[in-house]
Amino acid sequence: MAEQPLAAIILAAGQGTRMKSELHKVLHPVAGLPMLHHLLDSLAAAGAARQVVVVGARREQVEASVASRGVDIAHQAEQLGTAHAALQAKAALAGFYGIAIVCFGDTPFLRPETLARLKDRLLAEDAPRVAVLGFVPDDAKAYGRIIADDAGAISKMVEFKDATEDERAVRLCNSGVTAVRTSDLWPLLERVGNDNAAGEYYLPDIIMLALADGDKAVVVETDPDELIGINSRAELAEAESIWQQRRRAQAMADGASLIAPDTVWFAHDTVLGRDVVIEPNVVFGPGVTIADDVVIHAFSHIEGATIASGCSVGPFARLRPGADMREGAKVGNFVEMKKAVLGPGAKANHLTYLGDATVGANANIGAGTITCNYDGYFKYQTVIGENAFIGSNSALIAPVKIGRDAIVAAGSAVSRDVADGELRLVRGEQLVKPGWADRFHDAMRKKKREGK
Ligand code: UD1
Ligand code: CA
Repeated sequence: MAEQPLAAIILAAGQGTRMKSELHKVLHPVAGLPMLHHLLDSLAAAGAARQVVVVGARREQVEASVASRGVDIAHQAEQLGTAHAALQAKAALAGFYGIAIVCFGDTPFLRPETLARLKDRLLAEDAPRVAVLGFVPDDAKAYGRIIADDAGAISKMVEFKDATEDERAVRLCNSGVTAVRTSDLWPLLERVGNDNAAGEYYLPDIIMLALADGDKAVVVETDPDELIGINSRAELAEAESIWQQRRRAQAMADGASLIAPDTVWFAHDTVLGRDVVIEPNVVFGPGVTIADDVVIHAFSHIEGATIASGCSVGPFARLRPGADMREGAKVGNFVEMKKAVLGPGAKANHLTYLGDATVGANANIGAGTITCNYDGYFKYQTVIGENAFIGSNSALIAPVKIGRDAIVAAGSAVSRDVADGELRLVRGEQLVKPGWADRFHDAMRKKKREGK
């Protein structure tokens, strides 16, 4: 089988009305990544060297979203149907000779293996002119139907609107995902008419034209889960749920323990090591990498963070972008980190904010320590040395440096650097009045009794 270059044409010019959104439908995120990007990733993994997204309204949003991906944008000014939409990619693919896979931007979960299977089927010995991805859903709704024999040779493609009762009873449905050589695609698309119930140019009609030419067209069947289309917020939530279920299963298969899997939410790019334990109700935003032997305790929210092996996080911890925990570091309840490094073995066990900070190895950050990193205009750094001990309820007013082995006494507001090995105590003088409170209580109780 000769290697053939692969291009993808992603149709996304529909209005997406049911989303009721200012955001283009294909840019709504699943697991923190726009659904379109899930699809582009799968297509790239399947070897699609070229990708063209066909857009109508809100073109600039899609353009901005794919700007760094080397994806071409084609414009369909009027939504005249899926065949018309696919034809708009012709100019962008001028000079490209190979196989095109046409798919829909709102169907993000196609697996690379399935796309490869579809492409390989097109290149098989019996030389079909078109190969289309079919599925048998529980509820065939208004999907287009595929009439095919047991070997997958198609005799008819029919849209629900145009189908007879008998055809509607067929359960094999058209996903829309279609593979065809570019040398065939453009001439076939140009021949498609719009004499049908919807008055639209139907992409599946290229199969009818191929059959009319005496050529073969075939269906490749796949799991309906891959072909969930997203048209509404409810379907978006459903897609998220399916994605999360798969990711949880994968995490466990890869050696993480999830105590209550249904309550853990991953992002598209979460990386987990082995023997990671994740307690219930943990949410991962994008950009998290976790090494081996880490425990994430319940109710933690983690985003843009790097967590080295042996660390412990939470319960109720919040790690924001730039949080960087080194080996064996520990962050406890109600601790927030942002753009901060917590050195190897360092601990911030309770009620602390570490922002724009670097904490050295084995330092101990007492309960209620706050790095005061912002003056309303600019952000400033706090640097804490190895083995330093920050007493509870200290305010470290940045920019400030605390030396190695230094001790900051509890309750201090530190605004000047502390040298290595120094003790810094910043507190008001203590006033000591023995018996004062007893005398006060006696006097006040007497006053109350006398009704004054
Ligand atoms: C289409 C198929 C149907 C299949 C179903 C699977 C056709 C005629 N029908 O129907 O056989 O079962 O998908 O979900 O192809 N689009 C454009 N420009 C247009 C029209 C559509 O870009 O002028 C895009 C839409 O944004 C969408 C995709 O093409 O991403 C599918 O369009 P849609 O109108 O949803 O097609 P269906 O009627 O669902
Ligand atoms: Ca649809």
